[in-house]
Amino acid sequence: MKDLLRTSDLSRADIELLLKSATKFAEKPLSAKKHLAKKTVAVYMTKSSTRTRLASETAVAHLGGSPIFLRGDDLQIGRGETIADTAKIISGFCDALIVRTFAQSDVDELGKFASIPVINALTDDDHPTQLLADWITIRENFGKNIAGRKFVYLGDGNNMANAWLIMGATMGANVVVATPSGKWSPKPEIVKQAQSLAKNSGGTIEISNDPVAAAKDASVLYTDVWMSMGDSESDRSEKFEALSPFAVTDKLMKLTAKDSIFMHCLPAHRGEEVSADVIDSTKSVVWRQAFHRRTTIQALLFHLTRGDLSGN
Ligand code: CP
Ligand code: NVA
Repeated sequence: MKDLLRTSDLSRADIELLLKSATKFAEKPLSAKKHLAKKTVAVYMTKSSTRTRLASETAVAHLGGSPIFLRGDDLQIGRGETIADTAKIISGFCDALIVRTFAQSDVDELGKFASIPVINALTDDDHPTQLLADWITIRENFGKNIAGRKFVYLGDGNNMANAWLIMGATMGANVVVATPSGKWSPKPEIVKQAQSLAKNSGGTIEISNDPVAAAKDASVLYTDVWMSMGDSESDRSEKFEALSPFAVTDKLMKLTAKDSIFMHCLPAHRGEEVSADVIDSTKSVVWRQAFHRRTTIQALLFHLTRGDLSGN
């Protein structure tokens, strides 16, 4: 496996290896401090980022390398240079490329033409590095035995919902995704793919339009912003009306399992997808998730550049 282009690229064995190394990098951030010595990693972003940029640049530094941050409009790509040519040029200077952009097909193309590992740091369709941080946090809370537990995502059927479905299915989890029906439900092809992964892993996939039933006895309630980067502002009021029953409030949290946790990839909008009393409560693990963005990206850079991952 050369690249991490989508969550479904990761096999269960790859994830286990990455989580193990991320645990080590959490305890000892500098335990592989020469791995990228005198090497550079390009971090190319055409969308905003707080966590992923900080985590990526810090991860590269902890591995002894230097990150080179490239904004979307800094590159000649904005003036018509092709993705293929850009991929070849970056490959001539850097040892890996971390990329955040809109179209998944652009990331796929970078992966195709770059000779170095390409890591998807969020597209309109997926957010694989986030899910690694999420699953190490889940492990820290519940351990390896997740039989009988319910892992619920509530809200917009966006890139995070897609990634939640695929990762949970790969990990053998009982995954529930509850969204409004229609326009803001997860993509049918992703649901199909998750169902087929779950068949092999022993997990289950449930798509629901009922936030109350979904929250009942859940071990995790996960949510994300209702307006993602690139979403059309003209949808805002219709979308918020449809999504309002899916807001994670204390009332919904009260329906969950006794040892349940609240998760959010952040940034959060208190009073929209989550109430302040939930995200700032003792059940919330959002800061630990954010901490693990660095440990998991560090593990990913370490293993991808060594060619340790087998892929699906
Ligand atoms: N969770 C996440 O990807 O955050 P940023 O958009 O700040 O990178
Ligand atoms: N769905 C959000 C996730 C941000 C980390 C977005 O794409 O903007």
